[in-house]
Amino acid sequence: MTAFDSRVDPAALAEEALRDHIAGELTRARERTQWLTGAVDEADLVGQHSPLMSPLVWDHAHIGNQEEIWLLRDVGGRAGVRTDIDQIYDAFANARADRPSLPLLSPTQARRYVRQVRDEVLDVLSATPLAGRRLTRNGFVYGMVVQHEQQHDETMLATHQLRRTGPPLQAPAPVAERSARLPAEVLVPAGEFDMGTSTEAWALDNERPAHRLELPAFWIDTVPVSNADYLAFLADGGYATPRWWTPDGWAYRQRAGLTAPLFWQQDAVGSWWRRSFGTLVPVEPEEPVLHVCQHEAAAYAAWAGRRLPTEPELEKAARWDPVTGRSRRYPWGDGDPTPELANLGQRHLRPARVGSYPAGASPLGVHQLIGDVWEWTASTFGPYPGFEVFPYPEYSKVFFGTDYYVLRGGSFGTDPSACRATFRNWDFPIRRQIFAGFRTARSAGPEDTP
Ligand SMILES: [Fe+2]
Repeated sequence: MTAFDSRVDPAALAEEALRDHIAGELTRARERTQWLTGAVDEADLVGQHSPLMSPLVWDHAHIGNQEEIWLLRDVGGRAGVRTDIDQIYDAFANARADRPSLPLLSPTQARRYVRQVRDEVLDVLSATPLAGRRLTRNGFVYGMVVQHEQQHDETMLATHQLRRTGPPLQAPAPVAERSARLPAEVLVPAGEFDMGTSTEAWALDNERPAHRLELPAFWIDTVPVSNADYLAFLADGGYATPRWWTPDGWAYRQRAGLTAPLFWQQDAVGSWWRRSFGTLVPVEPEEPVLHVCQHEAAAYAAWAGRRLPTEPELEKAARWDPVTGRSRRYPWGDGDPTPELANLGQRHLRPARVGSYPAGASPLGVHQLIGDVWEWTASTFGPYPGFEVFPYPEYSKVFFGTDYYVLRGGSFGTDPSACRATFRNWDFPIRRQIFAGFRTARSAGPEDTP
């Protein structure tokens, strides 16, 4: 255990304390949703800021609709508030690009709707046992709904980053403690470790079950790839050199005309700027690079003579404790995230400089594995051995295969409730609007083994 061991474990709470914890998490998520939907006017709520994203007002009512389906109708056994709108807010029935043309609730109706659902949900929470059914045991389904709302809040934050109209978003810049001198990379020795979890009460189905995995030794970057690092790739003609790119990556780079990370622009004297939530800011050399797709990350890694880490490598670097051999919940230990440990929860609207949060580093000294930027991996999204759909296949199972690549660690826009060292995110390798960066790795040779 480290000094940072304050942990809220739903499985260890008495029923009344668990109800309070759930109510607190639901309220915290709702305050964030209100902030994200209250930051712009009606036109910006109903408009579509990118074909990649839903109108903000769709996300808003969709959050309420999922809460109604799971907590009111299923757990509460109640009739529900608006059974007539399920189809409109079904993410699978409607592609994002088509959502603006649906008969959506207006911003005022959406606000009223989610409030009505929440009022009834708090009633259900106080009246329904949290034991018995697997769905409600340890408050799992409430935790699932909290994470769903927070995940949509991060999606709405990405919509704000894409919009070109309305007021900019603002937040204080991170002023985190920072390690002075760090080695460029860290050796993770060969051997077994426990990947995934069977004990985390609110972990989602794709994180389960815990299983033992043997990995060969590898080296991993101590910190995420910085803008300065990435600018060297640009300056060396990285975007014009097919040999650094996979065939798919090069085809996409050509088709989309990629020349730099999304939101970057160069001025007349050659300095780089990036648009950040409506404000043009200089590209800060020591911040992690942000808004690159998996193809760009992989091309950079090849140029650097390295590769992207696999998903198990990134999890081992984040969780494995060489002293005990145990896998931790987080790099720093088993305690929940705090502002001293990681840049999470939209407290800031940008990543902290590389080398920040030494108190949040892993036992081997790898920094910023949680928070700041999601990190692309070399792995596609698949089930763990023993995977079981729970509670519905549309959360994970329908995405398994070779189309999606896994991202790990969460970003400055990820809430702690939706971020663990076992948490798995996934997206198409061409996606750049998400808050993603990366770090690189290389396989260790026999000379590295002590
Ligand atoms: Fe959703």
